Amino acid sequence: MCGIVGYIGHREAYPVIIKGLKRLEYRGYDSAGVVLYDGTDLKLSKTKGKVSDLEARAEKEISLNGSIGIGHTRWATHGVPNDVNSHPHVSNSGNLVIVHNGIIENYEPLKKELINRGYVFHSDTDTEVLVNLIEEVKKQDNLKLGKAVQVALNQVVGAYAIAVFDKERPNEIVAARLGSPLAIGVGKDEFFVASDASPFIEYTSNAIYLEDEEMAIIRLHKPLKIRKIKDDTLVDPYIQELQMNLEQIEKGGYDHFMLKEIYEQPSVIKDTYRGRLHANEGLIKMAGIEDNLQKFLNADRILIIACGTSWHAGLVAEYIFEEFARIPVEVEYASEFRYRNPIIRPTDVVIAISQSGETADTLAAIKLAKEQGAFVFGVCNVVGSSISRETHAGAYTHAGPEIGVASTKAFTTQITVLTLIALRLAQAKGTMNNSDFHRYLQELELIPEKVAEALETNLVAQTIAAVYKDAPNALYLGRGYNFPVALEGALKLKEISYIHAEGYPAAEMKHGPIALIDEHMPVFIIAPQQEHYDKIVSNIQEIKSRSGKIIAVVTKGDTQVKALADHVIEIPATSDALSPLLTTIPLQLLSYHIAVMRECNVDQPRNLAKSVTVE
Ligand code: F6R
Repeated sequence: MCGIVGYIGHREAYPVIIKGLKRLEYRGYDSAGVVLYDGTDLKLSKTKGKVSDLEARAEKEISLNGSIGIGHTRWATHGVPNDVNSHPHVSNSGNLVIVHNGIIENYEPLKKELINRGYVFHSDTDTEVLVNLIEEVKKQDNLKLGKAVQVALNQVVGAYAIAVFDKERPNEIVAARLGSPLAIGVGKDEFFVASDASPFIEYTSNAIYLEDEEMAIIRLHKPLKIRKIKDDTLVDPYIQELQMNLEQIEKGGYDHFMLKEIYEQPSVIKDTYRGRLHANEGLIKMAGIEDNLQKFLNADRILIIACGTSWHAGLVAEYIFEEFARIPVEVEYASEFRYRNPIIRPTDVVIAISQSGETADTLAAIKLAKEQGAFVFGVCNVVGSSISRETHAGAYTHAGPEIGVASTKAFTTQITVLTLIALRLAQAKGTMNNSDFHRYLQELELIPEKVAEALETNLVAQTIAAVYKDAPNALYLGRGYNFPVALEGALKLKEISYIHAEGYPAAEMKHGPIALIDEHMPVFIIAPQQEHYDKIVSNIQEIKSRSGKIIAVVTKGDTQVKALADHVIEIPATSDALSPLLTTIPLQLLSYHIAVMRECNVDQPRNLAKSVTVE
């Protein structure tokens, strides 16, 4: 969480930083700040609120000149979001400034020690402790900034991505990371530091992604130096060519990133299976799977670990893997898995799913599984992310940048990758006959155009949204492959519209949730024509006889549910196992429209952040 941007070079730093912070707002948006050095002094402006609030304030409050600066957009951990707790933080001497993403766990004893030495603190943050610790170390041993940062970081416990500079040496920024991402853009006579590459893609396509426990000493007109924080060894900078383009991170005419990302699903699902799915030849080619095929084939069990929407994709995968490849699957919340004493056997394969590739709980669960000897396979979207590097092998989802905080295209592309894996394993194990295998490949290839067709329900979704936008509660029900879609539908609604919503397997309703049903309760029920259709029809009747309002997602041409439901949304037919890729689309659209009608901030819902790098 939190986004950081730094610039040093020949341009005005302020516009680079502000534009960059806006692109990083998905990481946190409760307060923001910027500091520049204008040739004589530091110019600092910070505020509770969004980057646009910062912009309005900074333009009144400070001179915006200077070709070195750092900025921050925050998701509060230590200290409420207010002006004082916002970053950047300045050291007691007024010379050092820092922006920080992460948590310094041992900040309290460090703070006490610094107070004993006469330091004064103005904020409740761990970051202010860190900048003063760097100052103290620097002063004590008369160190250069880079060395002082290194010594100080060796005293802290926790996670960080930081950028620091010293107004006495305004030709240098020191950046470091442990557990939070940090990219350095390398331009001609200029450098950028940011939580991801989006703040600098229009200036340079050369990026260095710092590894954990690395720091960079970035000096103008000098070669960039990367060192290991622990032992000071020099590391050769590995400059990568960025794959991202500007179009991908802009709204492109849509009102919100979420809507753009919902509409991107036909093309990104295709990107995800491109080069992997060869329906005509009856082949699936995935290097990460082929290279480790025996591990998967010998697996007694697959453990899937993830959080949030990625966990829901894992639940869909559980049904698919067990059905196709007959391998037992357990799906675990990474946050629970890491803190219990899980039984991990050498014959287990662990699949970790994460859009951002930075989720702290998932990362910690992966480390635990690795320590216990498991083979860990990652399904990530962000190329080069921590999880993609920490896992033994993996497959990217190729969804492109997902900026809306509510996950949409990440979910469907994760399911696409996991389906491809399950199919490949089914083929290799012989658990699926050849004709079914070919049929699934062909069906999967048709999914993008069926998703496009499902998107045509947008107007219907909008009309239904207008009816239920003021409901205080909602229930989502589904069975089999679509039970996880019910959970995902409920999560989408609650996170962006703040309506309380619950997802259940439809048959569980009678074990408790049915007590909630009355004429005010909208029940979103996922009822495509598939196995157990009759059972779901009975569930609908049970709701109907208690006056619940039924909004059903059905297969085109359905008559039975249509006759019972208050509203239906029709999606194209597909096989049961692939249906979540379609049924989820109208639920995304419904949530989106309800949130817009309630005037909620769709892309930046309250209290959330896109990349959850704290426990
Ligand atoms: C919900 C949502 C979150 C994420 C969760 C995991 O819309 O976005 O629930 O799915 O924080 O994030 P990743 O997939 O980045 O590990």
